[in-house]
Amino acid sequence: MKKILVIHGPNLNLLGKREPGVYGNDTFETINCEILEYAKELDFDAEIYQSNCEGEIIDAIHNARESSVGIVLNAGAYTHYSYAIRDAISAINIPVIEVHLSNIHARDEFRSNSVIAPACVGQISGFGKNSYNLAIQALKRLV
Ligand code: DQA
Repeated sequence: MKKILVIHGPNLNLLGKREPGVYGNDTFETINCEILEYAKELDFDAEIYQSNCEGEIIDAIHNARESSVGIVLNAGAYTHYSYAIRDAISAINIPVIEVHLSNIHARDEFRSNSVIAPACVGQISGFGKNSYNLAIQALKRLV
């Protein structure tokens, strides 16, 4: 089975408890179970990783270049200012799909700019927890 890496960035460990009006009531654990299940349906062995630290996310991206065929990345707020994460994505040659639960273009102005977007294959934003599954579907076509 081909391996993919799903990365959740800062504050996403609090899904279900954090601003449910924006991110939904499903817990982090429930969402991860659904991601694993859907990935399996598409013949992917998904690994899920969460970190609140920029450097750890960068390390995870680097490590995936050997172990995985693609990455689904919700970089949280790092999306909007981490040139280091963008450079990490540019440094590897497996596809990275940017995801967001909320529609980042319909919220605060600072959220509508993604500095990682140019280094990703594409961006999926605004479909709640289903954004992850849509990204896995996109990876299926790519790899
Ligand atoms: C988010 C959107 C970001 O702007 C925010 O900082 C997050 C979550 C999303 O999934 O909608 O932490 O990436």
